[in-house]
Amino acid sequence: MIVERAYAHAVGHDEDEWPWSVPCVRQLLAEGLRFTAPVTFLVGENGSGKSTLVEALAEAFGLDPYGGSHDWKYATHRAKSPLGERIRFDAARGGRQMVRSWSARKGFFLRAETALDALDREGFEPDAKSHGEGFLAAFRGKFLVPGLYVMDEPEAALSFGSCLELIGHIDHLANTGAQVVCATHSPLLTALPGADIVEVGDHGLRRVRWEELELVDHWRRYLSDPAAYLRHIVE
Ligand SMILES: Nc1ncnc2c1ncn2[C@@H]1O[C@H](COP(=O)(O)OP(=O)(O)O)[C@@H](O)[C@H]1O
Ligand SMILES: [Mg+2]
Repeated sequence: MIVERAYAHAVGHDEDEWPWSVPCVRQLLAEGLRFTAPVTFLVGENGSGKSTLVEALAEAFGLDPYGGSHDWKYATHRAKSPLGERIRFDAARGGRQMVRSWSARKGFFLRAETALDALDREGFEPDAKSHGEGFLAAFRGKFLVPGLYVMDEPEAALSFGSCLELIGHIDHLANTGAQVVCATHSPLLTALPGADIVEVGDHGLRRVRWEELELVDHWRRYLSDPAAYLRHIVE
């Protein structure tokens, strides 16, 4: 693991304004976010603040906010978000050097909205591949060394089989000293044994077990009887 806690202090901020108004950000300011496993999944409804949080964590670690690997730190010179500017990390045993030295930091940020541009810059020629194939090429070519790997809904572009491949890459990273923080809606990814699952919502942040996840319950019931859901939706 690289970091065991993220925290932030904000002074004179407007609590009614983004990102300070988002409940999970309020909790981060109040208590910080502790990482207790090499893999942390953030789950929660649309608009709950997952992207706000993962983008800020990636920025704070020095990864390019548009996405990409440590080779592209600050390549876009996009201003850091107000939260990304303020987040600090407590190092885990395997991450002391990276937390101390910006130049030692390694990792990758896979951000759904700008993934294609980022992969293009890294020479993955996404135009020549499908969106999902570009992601797979990045996993195979970049998910190699210990570092902080931050992802925002990587499953959006991936088939079932490709999601399974991604789990394999995540597990390999976890077993070789790296750390993964991933926002997701995927019941498949979150089933990774040993992963921490943090639910983001109006309550802020709380740890949940995979078996208790609402998204798992919905998928299970939907797949066993789609009509039970669809009769409320379609005519
Ligand atoms: N750049 C921004 N400026 C203002 N509000 C934002 C910005 N980005 C996100 N928000 C708001 O913050 C909340 C959380 O958004 P987001 O982090 O994207 O949620 P999620 O990724 O969980 O769907 C939403 O209400 C969204 O409208
Ligand atoms: Mg999001």
